[in-house]
Amino acid sequence: MTLSKDKNWWRQAVIYQIYPRSFADSNGDGIGDLKGVTSRVDYLASLGLDAVWLSPFFPSALADGGYDVDDYRDVDPKLGTLADFDEMIAALHGKGIRVFVDIVPNHSSDRHVWFQEALASEPGSAARNRYIFRDGKGVNGDEPPSDWPSHFAPRAWTRITNPDGTPGQWYCHLFAPEQPDFNWDNPEVHEDFKKTLRFWSDRGVDGFRIDVAHALKKDLSEPLRSKPAIVDFDNPLSGDDPIFDRNDVHQIYREWREVFDEYDPPRVAVAEAYVRAERRVLYAKPDELGQAFNFDLLESPWDADSYRGHIDFNVKLAAEVGSSSTWVLSNHDKVRHATRFGLPQGADRNAWLLSENAGGVLDMELGTKRARAASLLQLALPGASYVYQGEELGLHEVWDIPLDEIQDPQWERNLHKYKGRDGCRVPLPWTSTGSSFGFGSGGSHLPQPAWFAEYAVDVESADASSTLEMYRAAVAARKQLLTGEDLSWGSLDGGQVIDFDRGNGWRSITNFGSEPITLPAGEVVVVSAPLVDGKLDSDATAWVVVR
Ligand code: GLC
Ligand code: CA
Repeated sequence: MTLSKDKNWWRQAVIYQIYPRSFADSNGDGIGDLKGVTSRVDYLASLGLDAVWLSPFFPSALADGGYDVDDYRDVDPKLGTLADFDEMIAALHGKGIRVFVDIVPNHSSDRHVWFQEALASEPGSAARNRYIFRDGKGVNGDEPPSDWPSHFAPRAWTRITNPDGTPGQWYCHLFAPEQPDFNWDNPEVHEDFKKTLRFWSDRGVDGFRIDVAHALKKDLSEPLRSKPAIVDFDNPLSGDDPIFDRNDVHQIYREWREVFDEYDPPRVAVAEAYVRAERRVLYAKPDELGQAFNFDLLESPWDADSYRGHIDFNVKLAAEVGSSSTWVLSNHDKVRHATRFGLPQGADRNAWLLSENAGGVLDMELGTKRARAASLLQLALPGASYVYQGEELGLHEVWDIPLDEIQDPQWERNLHKYKGRDGCRVPLPWTSTGSSFGFGSGGSHLPQPAWFAEYAVDVESADASSTLEMYRAAVAARKQLLTGEDLSWGSLDGGQVIDFDRGNGWRSITNFGSEPITLPAGEVVVVSAPLVDGKLDSDATAWVVVR
């Protein structure tokens, strides 16, 4: 199959996120790898995907699941080689599936050659100036240079030890200490990332997911500014905050757009920017990254008014800047949506993960039912749909990972307050029996629960009513039905019912209420739950073609 040159292919694409270490293991070392992905290309094709996005597979000591990159232009030997990458991309392209890779430009790992060189060099040297090194405050410089907080720890500064053993300067890391932040005021950093973008684009990569896109630029003028007293990572102040979502970050993405446009079709990108919606779409402008993740549904409770509001708002907002909206229900950072919807409304998910009776509190059946309804609704929305590996199986969060097997730095760094994100990163079940449920022949790097058997690909493929078969049917129908990017509200919309029309007679109707509802006359193309006496069940979605 040859890929089209359509430069708008991404606008309404279905893009599947692969967390490579947990997708498929080809050599039995318990860790998913690139050959594992290649071995599952038929499966990916059976989902009808337009693209896959691979979370980082670069050399890494895994201080943060691979988001601590040692070398941006290579493959982690634990996951394969560049030749394996080439083989994988050829196999995917051969099935018409495009490939996104993850770019982590805010920070490298502390094992990156540049950081090692910085440690070995003098304060004020060119090598140090690629990162953010500062002298400490206080008499002996033993206080951090500013009060900036880290996402994974109380503060964003760590003091180094000089080669002669004396205490040295401090460096900035908005995440773990193993993730030193780059100095984006340094043109060398700009040039190196453009080199990386070209490196992967030349290898055939079609798109890039940009990690923490809003954090690259900091106000590094002296004295370093203080953070506002209340720090809200999900909703920071905009424009002139010292570390987040600064206006001047956009210059970087305008430079990157020039690189993307060197290719035919132009390479595409999607920003991960945890900022207010009105600010988020700025990253999605056509002369910048083109798309930005909209996490509103991912953050939303299962509630019709909330969903309606997010849909209406985001469709309009994306159009205003010339992008299409994106939709996300799950990813590698959040409790899976089947589980979110099966917990009591408003439950504190961190507390839940740490509780003794987590499994007892979760209503798996209800969660799965709502997750299917939400996924079917998502796949009908205008714009790009991002699907996280395992959600097509209706997988739940694994809540009982033993504390001594936790890999996520959030657990240690946040002093055992958050159990972290491992529960959505457990290797996929491919078969209901066998070693690690078919993930590989040598076990699994995170423990898989017994209930994974019911969700295995082989089981669901053999069951027409499974979540997997619903996804397959939905993505195929979407391809047939999709026309423009318009959405108008349908006649049933209001109260506990969401009803929208995508043109061509295609309507998606979701019943958030407790009683079944009558569907409009027409062909029911896909349903998330069996009809009840011909009516749409509660917590269910139907696609109806009304002609
Ligand atoms: C993003 C990633 C997350 C990672 C962080 C630091 O939020 O999605 O997994 O921990 O960036 O790179
Ligand atoms: Ca492996």
